[in-house]
Amino acid sequence: MSPLRVTRTLPEDATDAALRADVLGGLTVTPKWLPPKWFYDARGSELFERITELPEYYPTRAEREILTARSAEIAAASGARTLVELGSGSSEKTRYLIDALPLAAYVPVDVSESALTQAGEALIAERPALDVHALIADFTAPLALPDTPGPRLVAFLGGTVGNLLPAERAAFLASVRSLLSPGDGLLLGTDLVKDERVLVRAYDDASGVTAAFNKNVLSVVDRELGADFDPDAFDHVALWDAEREWIEMRLRSRTAQTVKVPALNLAVDFAAGEEMRTEVSAKFRREGVTAELAAAGLDLTHWWTDAEDRFALSLSVVR
Ligand code: SAH
Ligand code: TRP
Repeated sequence: MSPLRVTRTLPEDATDAALRADVLGGLTVTPKWLPPKWFYDARGSELFERITELPEYYPTRAEREILTARSAEIAAASGARTLVELGSGSSEKTRYLIDALPLAAYVPVDVSESALTQAGEALIAERPALDVHALIADFTAPLALPDTPGPRLVAFLGGTVGNLLPAERAAFLASVRSLLSPGDGLLLGTDLVKDERVLVRAYDDASGVTAAFNKNVLSVVDRELGADFDPDAFDHVALWDAEREWIEMRLRSRTAQTVKVPALNLAVDFAAGEEMRTEVSAKFRREGVTAELAAAGLDLTHWWTDAEDRFALSLSVVR
């Protein structure tokens, strides 16, 4: 059994500089916002795993259903010897792909070091012949992949592509395309447009786990930048934007308050009821996914959904 290899392409101080820039940029404009990648410290990654087990949060179960049914077809169409997974988190659903593909190497990529090392250690213990090369990296920045055998399949599961804004998504898909050679592929998980009540419940569960996850971004800013956000002074908000077809997560200030961010020499005023955007989660239709992939130079070759048409996996193989 080879040891887990971990490569950090995110220097610790670059993370710090990026967090400062994002918090300064987001808290000094109207409306205020914070970018989503800061949700995922160790506690955030744990809370997300709890979200995936909630009765209201259907995307994980729907995507697992598709992977269970279709991994053999995915393997036949791709034949990948290296599986690169972006935003791999716990790599829990990925096991269906790992077991179906003729893999030599698995390259999980995530900003969450704790999630990556936990998932990586578990995988090498279970699958001793697999070369696991974890990358601590931001998938929205250019990626340098390790030199492993092709063909490659890049998997981006969980509907995480919907957490990028449309312009970010276009740039992201183009940069993924630039990593691929003929015979390589992209396996993309997208949550689908559906009944508004089902969508809102998935992002505002009865037991409050999603609320705790959303507020965790405030604890990250407190810890990293010495801020004095009181997570209990904000309410979790999830709403459906029917025009843009995305769920929008916000934090609403319960009262008029001033939050200090000493590392930035900043005092931020919130009005009572003022809302700050923390995350979007776009929902898709087949035509839109096909068009966005085509704009990035990718031809969708397969489209699979769960029995209730809640979630889709699409495969694009480069010719
Ligand atoms: N693929 C898993 C996890 C999805 S949650 C699943 O389907 O359940 C989103 C994952 O992406 C988290 O593990 C988070 O740490 C990671 N992530 C979010 N933004 C990222 C970024 N910019 N670069 C790399 N990883 C990121
Ligand atoms: N990729 C997940 C999704 O959009 C992330 C997520 C789930 C999330 N629940 C959340 C992000 C709540 C912020 C808040 O479904």
